[in-house]
Amino acid sequence: MIKKIHHVGIVVESLARACRFWRDALGLPLAREAEIADQGVRAALLAAGDSEIELLEPTRADTGVARFLARHGEGLHHVCFETPDVDADLGALKAQNVALLDQTPRQGLAGRIAFLDPSACGSVLVELATPPHGEASADSPVRFKRLVIGCRDPQDMTKTYQQLFGLPEVAVNDGPRSLLGWSGGGTLLMVPAVEVGGTLGMAALSMVAPEMAPLVQRLQKVDAVMFSGASEITLKPEAANNVHVHISRYHFP
Ligand code: CO
Repeated sequence: MIKKIHHVGIVVESLARACRFWRDALGLPLAREAEIADQGVRAALLAAGDSEIELLEPTRADTGVARFLARHGEGLHHVCFETPDVDADLGALKAQNVALLDQTPRQGLAGRIAFLDPSACGSVLVELATPPHGEASADSPVRFKRLVIGCRDPQDMTKTYQQLFGLPEVAVNDGPRSLLGWSGGGTLLMVPAVEVGGTLGMAALSMVAPEMAPLVQRLQKVDAVMFSGASEITLKPEAANNVHVHISRYHFP
């Protein structure tokens, strides 16, 4: 049912300020921007290869996104999987008694969408989306590669995500970690929480870029670089809306 990681959602205080980092410094092209009145958010989707980055700014205080911002501050908020038929998938999850936040799909920035309860997915807020037909993704100089998720037991998480979403496991020879997803559609790396400072849930973003030097220059201008080498860049979370971002050098096929 699930085809790829459609986007990763990040809650921000100011969409305009966040765009200065994600769009202008990192170079991700803006694909869509809209205010979604019933959810009380202003949102932007930025192209990042086969997946997108969604920035969410609350527009009033009584919404889930506003409460998240008040409680946790800016940061990673949800991951969205693309499916050709969100209604059918939601029905199948309901039949398995999976805890849902949306009992029926509704209209969101990414198309027809629905959220699961984070308790069903190891403290990760998961969105399912069926985007409108005929959307071409813009080319971007930096691409999403994987989302790192901290959990108590990566093998248990793997089983849960395989059972709920049918995510395939990608071979990984790295101790207790496991990697799920698609080489062309983004992956989830499940790691023991101790490896990510005790975080249970979404912990970091890995991205890839073919050229490091121009990227480092742009990122240095906004004081976003924590470390940069010939083939990798680690960003300061405070420059990236509290998101841990790592970029490695990779020539796109
Ligand atoms: Co979303």
